[in-house]
Amino acid sequence: MHSVSGSITVPGDKSISHRSLMLSGIATGRSEVTGFLPSEDCLASMAAMRALGVGIEQADATRVIVHGVGLHGLRGASFALDMGNAGTAIRLFTGLLAAQAFDSILVGDASLMKRPMERVAKPLREMGAEIRTRSGTPPVEITGGHSLQGIEYRMPVASAQVKSSILLAGLYANSVTTVVSPAISRDHSERMLASFGVRVDVDGLTVRVHPASSLQAQSIEVPGDFSSAAFFIVAGLLGASAQGLLIRNVGLNPSRTGLLDILRSMGANIDIENPRQSGAEPVADLRIHRSALRGIAVPAALVPLAIDEFPVLFIAACCADGETLISGAEELRVKESDRIAAMGAGLAVLGVEHEVLPDGMRIVGVPEGPAFGSGVVDSVGDHRVAMSFSVASLRARGPIRIKDTDNVATSFPGFAQLAREVGFDLHD
Ligand code: S3P
Repeated sequence: MHSVSGSITVPGDKSISHRSLMLSGIATGRSEVTGFLPSEDCLASMAAMRALGVGIEQADATRVIVHGVGLHGLRGASFALDMGNAGTAIRLFTGLLAAQAFDSILVGDASLMKRPMERVAKPLREMGAEIRTRSGTPPVEITGGHSLQGIEYRMPVASAQVKSSILLAGLYANSVTTVVSPAISRDHSERMLASFGVRVDVDGLTVRVHPASSLQAQSIEVPGDFSSAAFFIVAGLLGASAQGLLIRNVGLNPSRTGLLDILRSMGANIDIENPRQSGAEPVADLRIHRSALRGIAVPAALVPLAIDEFPVLFIAACCADGETLISGAEELRVKESDRIAAMGAGLAVLGVEHEVLPDGMRIVGVPEGPAFGSGVVDSVGDHRVAMSFSVASLRARGPIRIKDTDNVATSFPGFAQLAREVGFDLHD
């Protein structure tokens, strides 16, 4: 049992960092991005934009200067663009590249090559794009030179990646493009497109993007990633010392903060301090107090607002009094790994009473003392699974060995060092 304390800053937001490169790359003029996340996923987007002819300087790891080539200034790459592990990159680039005059091929690592791509290819084809997938997964082959029409697309799942992919293609369409979501999903694209001068109308769950003639270069401040802060939020709830754990400059876009609502209804004591605006995004500092948690049935409406935080929410549930039921979260099965299966397997190794459900998990927590045993768990190369099991170590009876953790660098470079700084007993 370990306690955590201190004051930390987490790295920049991954979703916003990807989008900042894509939009500033097709803008006219010089954009500056500060707080950029120099993780493997975002560096894959950077390499792809460079391969498409955009000049990008990394003044330092987190400050990036982008010399935009204009809406029609991208040029085709002579090789397949490698998106690594990044689902956001491959989905958003598919939309952007579907509208270009040249052909493109998009590939990725072993995990990305298994992820569903028809969810973006299908609506983009409706717009007039020519896209082939291999049985629904990458490689994605795009034949350029097709003019696109605006469509009205009703998304079957609440996916910000699908929505954003269509909105990016919509910039190049000959009429307004409308996306209707079944539930709220993160809205960074809408906010950032508007700040680049694109007309985007949002009406509840409906977003309309108007064809653009140009995007104006911007200064973009990327806030700390709420999804990275999530590991420390749960760590603080499980083990903060009397002063609490302070996490500074965290992005608190309401389409991302479902975890805060879920944890608060479980009894979490979290103060939001110094709320402010950072460009188009709200940010604040979070003070996390050690809290006695109780199990709940997680409301289905909060699932898309916490979609990346479920692995670490499962860990919180293991330490809550009574039963926590997570359902309606089948999307977790098509993330960087099948996160329901991966977390279920690890919880079984650690002796947690739980039941894996097709669309979630039922977990019976242990509120006092160790909630986890010890043993070897497999992160199956999924960054968030790996970091979540390191949080479990705060309440474990003995050491937890986590296999296949290299991909932590896809979203959270420096995680291990920061975790040690606040008090995790973590060894390489
Ligand atoms: C993201 C959207 C989410 C999320 C992913 C990042 C984005 O995916 O899980 O980590 O940046 O748009 P879905 O849109 O597939 O839910």
